Amino acid sequence: MDEKLSFFKDGFRLDGRRPDELRPIKIEVGVLARADGSCYMEMGDNKVIAAVYGPREVHPRHLQEVSRAIVRYRYNMASFSVEDRKRPGPDRRSYEVSKVSREALEPVILTSYFPKSVVDIFVEVLQADAGTRTAGINAASVALADAGIPMKCLISSCAAGKVDGEIVLDPMKFEDNFGEADVPIAMTPGGDFTLLQMDGRLAPEELKRALELAKTGCQQIYEVQRTALVDRYSSIEEQESCDEAEVEIYE
Ligand code: CDP
Repeated sequence: MDEKLSFFKDGFRLDGRRPDELRPIKIEVGVLARADGSCYMEMGDNKVIAAVYGPREVHPRHLQEVSRAIVRYRYNMASFSVEDRKRPGPDRRSYEVSKVSREALEPVILTSYFPKSVVDIFVEVLQADAGTRTAGINAASVALADAGIPMKCLISSCAAGKVDGEIVLDPMKFEDNFGEADVPIAMTPGGDFTLLQMDGRLAPEELKRALELAKTGCQQIYEVQRTALVDRYSSIEEQESCDEAEVEIYE
């Protein structure tokens, strides 16, 4: 018989977190020179990069919508991002993740401002450790803002899971692989859900707890996203005012 897996040690998870704790987050805005907007994000051991292009002309033309921009989202895992080399190119999973991620962001993008155009979002997973779709959505949301795409608000995303009968925030790979359930969500700062998926089985009260926990996670992620954008643009403004001052001095 299999030995029972242990997910907790002295009340803490195997990576030292409490059940209601997120993994460390790092966000860098504007990392790609050739994209209109971009973002590099780490959520624990997940490392993703998001690039946004547009609004721009739609190719092929038949995809054009007369009254709004279309949004395309391509999620791609690098072959070296996972333990067993991933075969390059799209597969069923990447189509699914791309679809739900696009649907998580589209409701807040003001597409009617840009008829007959497209906003292209590319997410590349460089290193995966469970939660790559949520990391991708977070990075893409920041990259859209960096590209100056008009949006109602940012979108923040994270998952809650069930391991050893306990609901935990932001499961890492071991918890995701051997746990009982995984519930990724995405939401607006106002608490409107734009993504809700569930893998595994949860009782109604467990689902309620998972959603509560994931919501608090999203609120914390929102603050990090907002701060990263404010820091990026206040440092640009500071730089510009320094440059102006220099012009005045040397003129
Ligand atoms: O990454 P996310 O949790 O959004 O999606 P998932 O389909 O639940 O995958 C969970 C994790 O399984 C990924 O983050 C990867 O670490 C791993 N995975 C893998 O090792 N090889 C794949 N081909 C796909 C996923």
